[in-house]
Amino acid sequence: MIKDKVLKALNKQINEEVYSAYLYASMRAYFEKLNLKGFANWLRIQVQEELFHARKFENYIYERGGEVEFYEIKEPTKSWKNPVDAFEAVYKHECHITECINKLAEIAEKEGDRSARMFLDWFVNEQVEEEANADEILQKLHMVKDAPGGIYWIDKDLGQRAINPMIIADITGATTAQ
Ligand code: FEO
Repeated sequence: MIKDKVLKALNKQINEEVYSAYLYASMRAYFEKLNLKGFANWLRIQVQEELFHARKFENYIYERGGEVEFYEIKEPTKSWKNPVDAFEAVYKHECHITECINKLAEIAEKEGDRSARMFLDWFVNEQVEEEANADEILQKLHMVKDAPGGIYWIDKDLGQRAINPMIIADITGATTAQ
């Protein structure tokens, strides 16, 4: 049986992941307004990634016989000064999520919950990728420094991002997310 402290922390993380989706959906709207469709595409897919993360936590709680709880989602930021400012916010947010996952792992360890600790390893690794992806885009933006040609090139590049097949399978129910 899952301990209360671990369950509460897992439920709190669902809220963090759904808020991440909400934040990136808001940022997508900002880039759609700027007509930067590639940035908007990257964020549209990121929204799906975050909802996938939230479902992964949900599925795990169900598997452990716990009760899933949904809390209020705070209002996300709606505008940014420029693309650099927006991706600085993405990078900062992902660093915050990494901290949340690390704290969660500490709670699982303290409570002696080996299963939850092992489950969280997937997220520990995922956060390395999440931070690296955001940082890569941010570094490119710093490199081109708002030059329209450079922004156009990054936008084209981000337009290539495709949804992870694992997420499509999860949405369509073709497989259960592990
Ligand atoms: Fe769910 Fe972007 O971390």
